[in-house]
Amino acid sequence: MSSFTAIDLFSGIGGVKMGLQQAGFNVTYSNDNDLYCRKTFETNFNHGLDHRDITLIPSKEIPNHDLLAAGFPCQPFSMAGNQKGFKDPRGVLFFEVARIIKAKQPKVFLLENVKNLKSHNKGETLKTILTILEKDLGYNVHYSVLNSKDFGLPQSRARIYIVGFKDNVEFEFPEKIQIKQPKISDILEKKVDEFYYLSQKYYEGLANHKARHSAKGSGFGFEILNPNGISHSLVVGNMGRERNLIKDRLSKNAYSEGMDKAKTKNALGVRKLTIRECARLQGFPDSFLFPVSRTQTYKQLGNTVSIPVIKAVAIQIRKSLDKLKSKNKSLIDNPKLGETISLRAFVDL
Ligand SMILES: C[S@@+](CC[C@H](N)C(=O)[O-])C[C@H]1O[C@@H](n2cnc3c(N)ncnc32)[C@H](O)[C@@H]1O
Repeated sequence: MSSFTAIDLFSGIGGVKMGLQQAGFNVTYSNDNDLYCRKTFETNFNHGLDHRDITLIPSKEIPNHDLLAAGFPCQPFSMAGNQKGFKDPRGVLFFEVARIIKAKQPKVFLLENVKNLKSHNKGETLKTILTILEKDLGYNVHYSVLNSKDFGLPQSRARIYIVGFKDNVEFEFPEKIQIKQPKISDILEKKVDEFYYLSQKYYEGLANHKARHSAKGSGFGFEILNPNGISHSLVVGNMGRERNLIKDRLSKNAYSEGMDKAKTKNALGVRKLTIRECARLQGFPDSFLFPVSRTQTYKQLGNTVSIPVIKAVAIQIRKSLDKLKSKNKSLIDNPKLGETISLRAFVDL
């Protein structure tokens, strides 16, 4: 197989980069303007991160590449966010992606976002994005919603993946990986820091809140996961974490009658998923380090991608790029095969 280069915009901690690398791409440039992401990224990879605001980077300063990957900010389109879409300053960052595609003309791009992008503003947001990519930029675009649980992870995380080729080439999104569904219990740590256990006071607060909601007939509130099942999507913010609780052995400092509820851990052994467990749910290897605070790390892991899904999509992209390369090569070796050979075929080889 040939070697192709890639760049990774809105790279966060480098989840996309890892998936692309695992699929054989050489990722030569990454950008993200969050200083905590930068610290995590630079601890784990042997090259630095361009940490300037993307809106301030002239396209000519971005290296040429075959594949442009971008997981542009999803909060403006997310059910958990304000849903302001392009009216949110973060929503317009898609136009930065379009600007760079237009200037750099990569062979292919891979964009990732929340599933809700499809239905946001009654489908108008996605329509605008597709019109820009197809009509204004001239790419052949495919999109699909893929769920991380179908790619060997015990996490239900449905995201939209948008792939566009400059040339006309066949492309298919990956099939589900047909293996036995991994379970939450497969990724749990054996020894867990006391920090992760909820205090008795906090747990009672959550339980009361849930009871009030279920009395009103709504399903809001915390959730304790079945260890034989899978987790909900990891998201940024506490509310998501409270839907991904598990029951473990009791804390050494578990509450019993008469003790201070604020200073003791709950009497049921309920705890949050640890940083390592969340990282495993996204497919990060245990060698991946998190040098920033737990709060920042949870945020980074809620924002990042599921590495095996990126890898699976990137492998499909490589297959298409390889097909294109051999098609272009045979046209050059044998010009009569084609009525006209596009100048692009020569330029790309
Ligand atoms: C959804 S996250 C992408 C996460 C990433 N794919 C990963 O694997 O970790 C969006 C990222 O966009 C970055 N970002 C937001 N505004 C930006 C800007 N103006 N310039 C550069 N990066 C920006 C944020 O810091 C955040 O890390």
